[in-house]
Amino acid sequence: MSRQRSSKRSELDHYSLRAKKEGYPARSVYKLEELNSKFKIFKHNSKILDIGAAPGSWTLYCLRKTAKDSLVAAIDLKDLTISKNDARLFFVKGDFFEDSSQKQLLEKGPYNAVISDAAPATTGNRTVDSGRSFTLASGIIGIADKMLVKGGNLAIKIFQGGDEKELVGMLADIFETAKIFKPKACRRESFETYIIGLGYKGASQG
Ligand SMILES: C[S@@+](CC[C@H](N)C(=O)[O-])C[C@H]1O[C@@H](n2cnc3c(N)ncnc32)[C@H](O)[C@@H]1O
Repeated sequence: MSRQRSSKRSELDHYSLRAKKEGYPARSVYKLEELNSKFKIFKHNSKILDIGAAPGSWTLYCLRKTAKDSLVAAIDLKDLTISKNDARLFFVKGDFFEDSSQKQLLEKGPYNAVISDAAPATTGNRTVDSGRSFTLASGIIGIADKMLVKGGNLAIKIFQGGDEKELVGMLADIFETAKIFKPKACRRESFETYIIGLGYKGASQG
């Protein structure tokens, strides 16, 4: 095995083992940890909407890092594998783009932070997959006015495919600050990255 491959493997093991040790179902939690430590996406006392939440690492991280009167609303097509016993967790099993899902989530909102690790079903064709990811991300940006409080923050996973500048441009129109950032915990070979909007300007200024 080449040295590069072996170091990649040990990096994977590091995050996976740490997730297991800390009780998270997926290593993806360390992407959110880095995003939150760098950009302060959510605070100790926050209402958070987690889109594409299953198996539930991000949701669990938010529950662990927020105060007793915080709320974490999570939605996924699939069920969460984490415990749903925390009264601060509101889980919707369904498609985020369905009206009925959004209605339920809106009843608990608006939110201080919207985080999305949602990923479309992949085909292996990078053009198709990044196109689907673009549609998903732009759909989420499109509902910011309904879901986010003024001053709120947004972080969305995207698959890089050339259109990410357009997405950052969309964020720049409606947030004080728009950025793109790839956490260290992303697999090196992965073409995923995250777009960040900080300080939502509010619906009237979008
Ligand atoms: C990479 S996983 C998320 C991992 C999660 N952040 C964690 O740390 O456990 C991506 C998820 O996005 C979900 N997803 C994709 N499209 C969705 C949609 N339209 N509505 C709800 N969930 C969606 C998938 O079902 C999948 O579980």
